[in-house]
Amino acid sequence: MRILSGIQPSGALHLGNFFGMMKPALELQEKGQAYYFIADLHSMTTLFDPAERRGNSLDVALDFLACGLDPKRTVFFRQSDVPEVPELTWMLSTVTPMGLLERCHSYKDKKAKLADDDLEKVNHGLFAYPVLMAADILIYDSNVVPVGRDQKQHVEVTRDIAMKFNNLYGETFVVPEAQIRDEVAVVPGIDGQKMSKSYGNTIEIFGEEKAVRRKIMSVVTDSRPPAEPKPDAQKNIAVQILKLVASAEAAKDAEDRLRAGGFGYGDLKKALFEQYWSYFAGARARRAELVKNLDYVQQVLREGAAKARATAQTVLKRAKLACGLD
Ligand code: ADP
Ligand code: TRP
Repeated sequence: MRILSGIQPSGALHLGNFFGMMKPALELQEKGQAYYFIADLHSMTTLFDPAERRGNSLDVALDFLACGLDPKRTVFFRQSDVPEVPELTWMLSTVTPMGLLERCHSYKDKKAKLADDDLEKVNHGLFAYPVLMAADILIYDSNVVPVGRDQKQHVEVTRDIAMKFNNLYGETFVVPEAQIRDEVAVVPGIDGQKMSKSYGNTIEIFGEEKAVRRKIMSVVTDSRPPAEPKPDAQKNIAVQILKLVASAEAAKDAEDRLRAGGFGYGDLKKALFEQYWSYFAGARARRAELVKNLDYVQQVLREGAAKARATAQTVLKRAKLACGLD
């Protein structure tokens, strides 16, 4: 089984990325041949600072390795190191109906968010992004794509494109499936909306201690006093995040104490910070070591790219043969 996923180097890794995509992806490493990559070409649709892209790409590499990506098992690489991907993107774009892309929520949301004077930022890349993503997936004969729920539609677009190409030119591509963990499908941010870099409501995985503590202490709560019992404790945002980073017993204990009354939100958030900090202690220590050994990180990416290219070249050749570009 070929498992594939990517993450954009568009900002610091947060709890939403970790529980929505990275952790499930890392767990799948055992289940088959995983290909994970840094989607630097995708980041060009919204990020226009070269130094930031370079820095973020290195950060994603460090984050993934620190969190447990095993380069002996898993092929780990930068998207732009595989030039066959943009080549396949063009071929796929010619079988992609405009309407399919026009329906994509992610594009519509991003377009709506850009104010009128920023309309120039609604570039063709942003619109065509799902075709690039389809090429990422199809070029490695991927079967399973672990992503957060917001990416589900893009994997469906990929399936449509693969089937269109197969119908037109004969069986060429494996039709992949998204894999979404329902229990962590959407991690809430400190304001209760979906946690996202673009909402400024994230809790970083490798943030600086004081800054993250401050953020966690600012998780939105209501104004009920500590003494008051809170029968709706399961809806509390800090409780929902606590369930991700604490043991089931510790999370249940906090929830029960809120229900009973006499447990204030301040104490709840302090407990959340402690649990969060210790949950990532191992990864934090590994990351600090990796930062001292960047040559090793670059070597992992170089070797990954060589393996990824070998697979990509085989599939691209198959696609060219099918459509008469051989
Ligand atoms: P952001 O919204 O912060 O820009 P990305 O769009 O770069 O995050 O998402 C990277 C990956 O992390 C995707 O697979 C996405 O589905 C997942 N992800 C992002 N935010 C969340 C969240 N709040 N809950 C669950 N998964 C998420
Ligand atoms: N679009 C994904 C995101 O923003 C990243 C990505 C690019 C991806 N190509 C992919 C994810 C292929 C899975 C498979 O999160």
